[in-house]
Amino acid sequence: MEFKFSHIMDNVRPSEIRELLKYASQPGMISLGGGMPNPSSFAVDEIREISDYVLENYGPLALQYGNTGGYDELRKQLAIFLGEMEGIRTQAGNIIVTTGSQQALYSVGKILVNQDEFVITESPTYIGAISAFRACGIRMEGIAMDEQGMRTDLLQVSLEKHRTEGKMPRFIYVIPNFQNPSGYTLSMERRKHLIDLSADFNVPIVEDNPYGHVRFSGNHLPNLKSMTNDNRVIYLGTFSKIMSPGLRIGFVSADESVVGKINLLKQGLELSGSTLTEFIAAEYLKRGIMKRKIPEVARMYGRKRDIMLKALEDSFPEWASWSKPEGGMFVWATLGGRINTSKMIARAIENKVTYISGASFYPEEIKYDGMRLNFTFPSDDDIPVAIKRLASVIDMEVKAIEVSR
Ligand SMILES: Cc1ncc(COP(=O)(O)O)c(C=O)c1O
Repeated sequence: MEFKFSHIMDNVRPSEIRELLKYASQPGMISLGGGMPNPSSFAVDEIREISDYVLENYGPLALQYGNTGGYDELRKQLAIFLGEMEGIRTQAGNIIVTTGSQQALYSVGKILVNQDEFVITESPTYIGAISAFRACGIRMEGIAMDEQGMRTDLLQVSLEKHRTEGKMPRFIYVIPNFQNPSGYTLSMERRKHLIDLSADFNVPIVEDNPYGHVRFSGNHLPNLKSMTNDNRVIYLGTFSKIMSPGLRIGFVSADESVVGKINLLKQGLELSGSTLTEFIAAEYLKRGIMKRKIPEVARMYGRKRDIMLKALEDSFPEWASWSKPEGGMFVWATLGGRINTSKMIARAIENKVTYISGASFYPEEIKYDGMRLNFTFPSDDDIPVAIKRLASVIDMEVKAIEVSR
């Protein structure tokens, strides 16, 4: 039988990251491609101890179907965590637990946007958000970024144009801290501007903050949610980068009406998340392990960032440029418009190094000279080796382009 698939699936493409994962395990390959935490950041012993405790004390409950909205104690602990760590005043009723923040992205797309409508994103933006929004069948308009994050001056021009045309975006999606893929952080001035624009044009903000806790230099900036007294910011969080992505614990803190609609959608998607991991995550928070671990993880990633920046300085061509993130997991390098990094990837794989090419991260108007380099997963020793390999791949690519001219 030949199946007829929905039109929505015509626009959903395989992610380059998933494709590259098959090369990552080849012998001798160093992957700067994935967005994985370093396995040494996982608190394996504590999580084993907590799992035993949960099974001993709550076994029948923890192995049963749970609430669609998430385990009550976890939502209570999350409200405390958000208050203490993020300055967000919220309560359990304004929080829903999701299967990673990836599910939250799909959910906000599904509950807030009709199929002939659009949302605004940064450009470049998170590849998984592009996939989630495409799977919802919605369009995206990208707003360019610089070292200070989304260009809110351009956002204003765009919103004014849309208002004149009578078609407003349904939300503005931003990753304000150590953005994926660029590593850029939205400046304080632009945070204020973004919130003002959201109010002036009556467009909600979806704030995705998986990396905000992992700051290793510079000063903490308040998140957008904590900067507003009204309900215009829908905040997405996750434990993937600070505890474990395998547990799949994400959450949304938002107005009760938004949380309620996500709950309804979730009933259709999966009934409830994983009760067992929700119990484990609640206990992890309750015991204060999260707060203890975060500075450790940030220290390790800061060291790895320094190693990568030094290696880039030592071996990349002087016409290349790259971001200098103060947190998170990624450096964004651009090759001066000279090289198509999507084409170069084959040569990189031959030379035992991978990255994610920039083209994957553009919701529209693709640029081809960027690449996302992950510094959290490879070992300290492998980072300079990988960057050296990449520098020689760039050199080979430049020569090949010159010969073909
Ligand atoms: C910006 C951003 N949002 C959301 C996610 C999804 O994370 P998870 O579903 O593991 O919580 C990621 C993962 O890399 C990300 O970088």
